[in-house]
Amino acid sequence: MTNTDYDYIIIGSGIAGLNTALLAREHGSVLIITKGKIDDCNTRYAQGGIAAAVGPGDSPTLHMRDTLTAGAGLCDQEAVDVLTREGPQRVANLIQWGVPFDTSEGKVSLGREGAHSMPRILHAGGDATGQHIEVTLTDLVAKTNVTVLEYTLATRLVVEAGEAQAVETLNSATGECQTFTGKFVVVATGGAGQLYRYTTNPEVATGDGVALAYLGGAEVMDMEFYQFHPTALWLDGAPTFLLSEAMRGEGAILRDVNLNPFMANYHPMADLAPRDVVSRALAIEMEKANGAAVYLDISHLPADTVQSRFPTIYNFCLSYGLDITKDPVPVAPAAHYMMGGVRIDTWGRTNIKGLYACGEASCSAVHGANRLASNSLLDTLVFAQRLVASSLGKAPEQAQDSRDHNVYASLKPRELVCANMPSFSREAFQDLMWRNVGINRRGSRLLLTARILNAWERAMPDPINREDYELRNMVLLGRLMVEAALLRQESRGSHFREDFPETSPEWEKHVVLSQEENSQ
Ligand code: FAD
Ligand code: SIN
Repeated sequence: MTNTDYDYIIIGSGIAGLNTALLAREHGSVLIITKGKIDDCNTRYAQGGIAAAVGPGDSPTLHMRDTLTAGAGLCDQEAVDVLTREGPQRVANLIQWGVPFDTSEGKVSLGREGAHSMPRILHAGGDATGQHIEVTLTDLVAKTNVTVLEYTLATRLVVEAGEAQAVETLNSATGECQTFTGKFVVVATGGAGQLYRYTTNPEVATGDGVALAYLGGAEVMDMEFYQFHPTALWLDGAPTFLLSEAMRGEGAILRDVNLNPFMANYHPMADLAPRDVVSRALAIEMEKANGAAVYLDISHLPADTVQSRFPTIYNFCLSYGLDITKDPVPVAPAAHYMMGGVRIDTWGRTNIKGLYACGEASCSAVHGANRLASNSLLDTLVFAQRLVASSLGKAPEQAQDSRDHNVYASLKPRELVCANMPSFSREAFQDLMWRNVGINRRGSRLLLTARILNAWERAMPDPINREDYELRNMVLLGRLMVEAALLRQESRGSHFREDFPETSPEWEKHVVLSQEENSQ
């Protein structure tokens, strides 16, 4: 019989969940609930690495400056300060735990990625950073008394009198439902790339934790900001597979359909421009070429350099008949990272007592409107440490909200009446999100999408299995994203409105959504 009462209940077993568990276990009993196998997560696929100011000539101040610039005016300054100052120590902890970062002549090797003013990305196994982190942390957890329940889906957060009490679960192998009570509940459920037709994310990335937290009364923030990675493999018969930005950091060049470089026409940093700029440039170039792919070309580098620095990418492409040491690779943007999520302060706390969030499911606004490359693994490490400290009472009192900084309004039911509801399927939903809530957005298409999603949401039966729960969560999250995107009548970072193409100083604020506010 499994114990059902714990000090910490952690939902998710990516870097955020595992790291939190390893820190929390020293202070109480810990349960990890995860809906697939333990290593079924975004973390495992991380390629480029972890950004931290550890190299010669670098400093937290410089890292902070790059993060704020990429974030397009919407980063929380305090969160970025914490991230960049505490980051190097957290990375040192990871090294102590045994993550084998690549070295050269006895020093850690540092790669470069878009919008970083210098090389500062630690990587492992060349382009297999996430795999090494996940394996190291999973092995450590296995040696502890942390309880891990695989194939266990969190289906509801139980919140009573404003306090998180328990997590309801469904075992997808046996169909058994259970309730686990805990003093602290941590949402570490990762991203939501599966909301889109094309994504670098694995099947588990359906945004469950954000949906559960919202349904439990938590505030969610910045949902309009979804990052599209510019370079995913675009080849008939091959899955959407990431080609790391680190390739451009090593000198790879984006070329148009006629193999001419084009990024210098869009940004002074050319191929190393911030990710939102590069993704939009690719969308424009593809449209000019009637939908044909653009190319990522690293064939001018020595073949052995490419093979040793990017072994995963090299071997994956080769298995589909493409030799990246010889030929340019067809690429297109794909949904990659959710900047929005469950709203937290810099101690991982949500607006609900006892409910915490960490990693991609959380939003401290540290990434603003566009995350700087390789800042997300770092974000999970830094804020997991603080989350555990705050559960031990080591954080200052939670600050009162400066609500006037934020926008809380949402669409009224009468605005959401849908005349023609198309038939619902996971694929229809992903297509709709890709077309209307993707790289380029327009008010009329967003409103139509909000209406369709609202109608689908209302017509959905109560979920009974994993697939149903995931669909419910995805449609709810899609609606929150659309509502936020409709509200933000400007373009900023990853949110580009064709009908409001300029950035407006009036919009230097966040869209915060909560059930309580939405029902008013
Ligand atoms: P995840 O690692 O996704 O873990 C989430 C966990 O929650 C999973 O175990 C999942 O099964 C579980 N879960 C979800 N819903 C439920 C539920 N209802 N019940 C129970 N369990 C649930 N970032 C970088 O900083 N550097 C990089 O180089 C980099 N490269 C990337 C490459 C790729 C291809 C991708 C997809 C992402 C990359 N990122 C990178 C982003 C980064 O990997 C993620 O943001 C980070 O790993 C998220 O960690 P996490 O622990 O928050 O979520
Ligand atoms: C990449 O390797 O290009 C992904 C890095 C990231 O998402 O931070």
